[in-house]
Amino acid sequence: MTPRIKVLSVVGTRPNFMKTAPVVAALRERPVEFEHVLVHTGQHYDDAMSEVFLQELGVGRPEYELAIGSGSHAHQTATVMQRLEPVLLETEPHIVLVPGDVNSTLAAALTAVKLGIPVGHIEAGLRSFDRSMPEEVNRVLTDQVSTLLFTHSPEAADHLAAEGIAADRVHPVGNTMIDTLVATRERITAARAPEAHGLERGSYLVVTLHRPALVDTRQLEEVLQELEELAHELPVVFPVHPRTRNAMKRSAVSTERVRLLPPLGYLEFLSLVEGAQGVLTDSGGIQEETTYLGVPCFTLRDNTERPLTVSVGTNTLLGRRPGRIAEVPALIKARRALSEGLPAGWDGRAADRIVDVLARARDHRNKLPSAFTPA
Ligand code: UD1
Repeated sequence: MTPRIKVLSVVGTRPNFMKTAPVVAALRERPVEFEHVLVHTGQHYDDAMSEVFLQELGVGRPEYELAIGSGSHAHQTATVMQRLEPVLLETEPHIVLVPGDVNSTLAAALTAVKLGIPVGHIEAGLRSFDRSMPEEVNRVLTDQVSTLLFTHSPEAADHLAAEGIAADRVHPVGNTMIDTLVATRERITAARAPEAHGLERGSYLVVTLHRPALVDTRQLEEVLQELEELAHELPVVFPVHPRTRNAMKRSAVSTERVRLLPPLGYLEFLSLVEGAQGVLTDSGGIQEETTYLGVPCFTLRDNTERPLTVSVGTNTLLGRRPGRIAEVPALIKARRALSEGLPAGWDGRAADRIVDVLARARDHRNKLPSAFTPA
């Protein structure tokens, strides 16, 4: 009997859970071929940022918890590496899977590749071309050291080719975050979050902000002032990320009309988004989730690593300056019809395609290919 392929996934932050959960589920459906080990770095550790997602998405308890906590970029990256290395030596996986672009992603990829273990990167090839974003640095470097690059966006292959990555390492599998949305859609709708928060469907705005370039600068106060103004026109609901909550404590602006909420679980948050008239955000993942749901999204950034969300027609880049927030109601009214259908592979089956690639990639010695050993 062919030995099973041992896959080890590393997650660390809130958006990682939605990207990895369907892959874990797909691997569990094929127990004869695969075994799976889950490692949680603990970059996010509050129940509301971590535990609730593991529970709602049915991932279960990680086999290893590295409990790295908060800290500077160097501290987080280095601590993941130090604590993950003995886990990889003990478990000896055939491949390490990492999702997205957070510090835990890059740290895990570096640790694995230096032990000669192939890395698979879920959500490879996204580029904002803005190296001042820590996530962009994480993306570029993770892609460079990965053997299998799983992409969900057509331009990803061009970005990877331009960085010298051979086409045979690139696998257009689709969007695993959308897999999670498809798998939980009925539960999202059944959560009835608008009703639970006393909001009328189709007549409120959801806000999320968490990027340091915005929330750790004076710009946060300007954004909050703009939101207070906007809240005269339509209800504004704002689940607040812990980083933003800390920054708001230091700020002089008080919000009276904007409805502040604690961070929400996955089902409740997407239920709120599903019923919203629009979303204002600086998040990456929410640009894609609103595209899938057909909800207008206004992104408070100068660039996006997800240009497809703009070309499909749901996402509008408002730019980093808060001055344009006042335009949001008029922009929603004037919104154009969606110019294209959903992107290829945003269909709920991306994780199955990843698992198929893993099954095909093994050779007769049960080895997965490494970009760093001669063929
Ligand atoms: C991280 C990612 C970012 C991602 C975001 C999703 C990096 C470089 N950044 O940003 O790409 O979009 O997660 O949420 O990896 N905190 C808590 N409880 C927690 C976690 C964090 O209170 O469970 C607070 C701490 O004060 C911490 C701060 O939030 O210092 C920032 O957390 P950190 O993990 O450094 O980065 P995020 O801003 O969450």
